[in-house]
Amino acid sequence: MAIYIPEEKLLEIRSAANISDIISERVVLKKTGKDLVGLCPFHSEKTPSFSVSPVKQIFHCFGCGAGGDVFSFLMKHDGIGFSDAVSSLARRYGIDLPTGDMTPGQKKNISERQQLFDLNKQVLSFFVSRLASRVEGEKARAYLKKRGFSQEIIKAFGLGFAPDEWDSLVRFFQKINVPQSIAEKTGLIVPRKNQGFYDRFRNRIMFPIFDVTHQVIGFGGRVLDDSKPKYLNSPETIIYNKSKSLFGAQAARNKARETGCVYIVEGYFDLLAMHQHGITNTVATLGTALTAEHVRLLRRGFAQKAFLLFDSDEAGLKAAQRSVSLFMNEAMDAVVIVLPKGYDPDSYMFEFGRPAFETLSEKAAGMVEFLIESAISVNGLSMEGKVRIISELTGPLSEINDHVARSIYIQYLSERIGVDESAISEKIQAEGKRAAYHQPVAQSGHPCETEPQTDGENAISPEMNRLEKHIMTMMLKFPGILPEIKKRRVLEFFSDKQLIAIGALLLEHPVVTQEDLSGLMNRLASPDDQRIIASLAICDDCWDYETGDKLLCQFLNSRQRRQGSLLNQIKAAEKNNDDTLLFELLRKKQAQRANR
Ligand code: UTP
Ligand code: MN
Repeated sequence: MAIYIPEEKLLEIRSAANISDIISERVVLKKTGKDLVGLCPFHSEKTPSFSVSPVKQIFHCFGCGAGGDVFSFLMKHDGIGFSDAVSSLARRYGIDLPTGDMTPGQKKNISERQQLFDLNKQVLSFFVSRLASRVEGEKARAYLKKRGFSQEIIKAFGLGFAPDEWDSLVRFFQKINVPQSIAEKTGLIVPRKNQGFYDRFRNRIMFPIFDVTHQVIGFGGRVLDDSKPKYLNSPETIIYNKSKSLFGAQAARNKARETGCVYIVEGYFDLLAMHQHGITNTVATLGTALTAEHVRLLRRGFAQKAFLLFDSDEAGLKAAQRSVSLFMNEAMDAVVIVLPKGYDPDSYMFEFGRPAFETLSEKAAGMVEFLIESAISVNGLSMEGKVRIISELTGPLSEINDHVARSIYIQYLSERIGVDESAISEKIQAEGKRAAYHQPVAQSGHPCETEPQTDGENAISPEMNRLEKHIMTMMLKFPGILPEIKKRRVLEFFSDKQLIAIGALLLEHPVVTQEDLSGLMNRLASPDDQRIIASLAICDDCWDYETGDKLLCQFLNSRQRRQGSLLNQIKAAEKNNDDTLLFELLRKKQAQRANR
């Protein structure tokens, strides 16, 4: 963490930014008592263990141990650095960051993402103005009209037009004096072989892609005729990650939260058609298959149930097969809406309208049932058909981690095609083993955090570690005990180096008020230290001097029982001529003596 932002500034931003607001934009939170809880965005889980404390302005997951303050949440969730987290919050709450003292490198670092957001916004206006332009935009306007899209929808989604020229955006960037290095990072202009740049999008209807906070992260563009490629998308950039972005997310979230369901379609125009027909809780994937991250974002931040609208062709079926485990593993209900052959949501909506669509969605089958039924209708129930059905379904079924759910589906399949349940189970188990052997890498998504790592030399028994954490919690919650900690030199008996460092900081800066806790978070250099503090601070336990004293005695006694081993260690260190270790051990020994 680079500490070039003055501490008062950090405190100012921290007190302006409400952690519950920031997290609520990304995770659905429910109030329980003083805290808010939801499904942890950092690991797969089916029951909420993620807590946010508006009073303490921290978050903590009881499942995976993730935790920290508003800055560390943004860093971890959005995958950005500390300075980006600070600058985005500063901007959002209208706080000016002093840039005077920064080196050019720091300035560049702090503003690059922000510059790209700003630039994309200007590009959005540029494309919108081209669509509105009387002559230049005429063909594109006519195209949208022919497809039936209303002015309101076109405006609400910021649709635009990229002119039929090689350099209209290149010239626009020059006109507004954007440095080449930044312009290039938008991915909207492409370097020429020899020199200069040309526009990536030419003669296309432009769709801006927003994140949930309404910032423009990228663009998609469609041709006006049958030329290829039909759609082009921005390449990934530092602000645009396709496997985490969904088209229409910013417009769908509220209704999705209200209704508890979200529709997932494949195309830009499918999404617009759904919205235009009033089904506004719809998002679209962007020329990529649905990922585990998409499902996690939707399940955490949008709704518990997904209506999938895959194309009713073979590719759609494959897509459904791939997604089963994604939904299962995030405990998101998924049902599949089957449109008549040859239709996509866009053409269906315009031809049959919303009531017909709603009738279809009421009939939607659960995802696994859908897979089984489609496998049956494709392969038939001849002997060969049954063999093919089972071999098509073993993959998707073996990926379902929930054993109960899996056995229910196996039973259904067995009854449906008249094949013995145990035969199917065996095949699925074998497939599961084979897949595990060939894919040792964990499923994508954030790696789940574990307990802090300690090196071998510093190995701590779980019981010791528990006591040390307990004492640290007391130091945090009950500053009255701090003089005692100092006097008895308690920290010198700690074995967890991380806790020793945090404890030393606490002795210097006791936490009495909420501001003190924020100040402590500021001083902690690593997100990992913040994580520890958040995990200790989140619980509402009360301390008094007596219980505190008891805990300290218990801890110090258990440490002294280890003294024998300390003596042995000293002997060994002497024998090995390890002066540094020897010095440290002697100090520990001395501290123990002082405590007796
Ligand atoms: P489709 O080919 O099904 O097109 O692609 P569509 O959405 O029905 O488009 P219209 O109605 O003809 O305008 C579905 C989605 O796949 C992505 C786009 O996101 C598209 O909306 N796609 C498709 C691409 O990224 N590139 C392509 O060349 C084609
Ligand atoms: Mn279409």
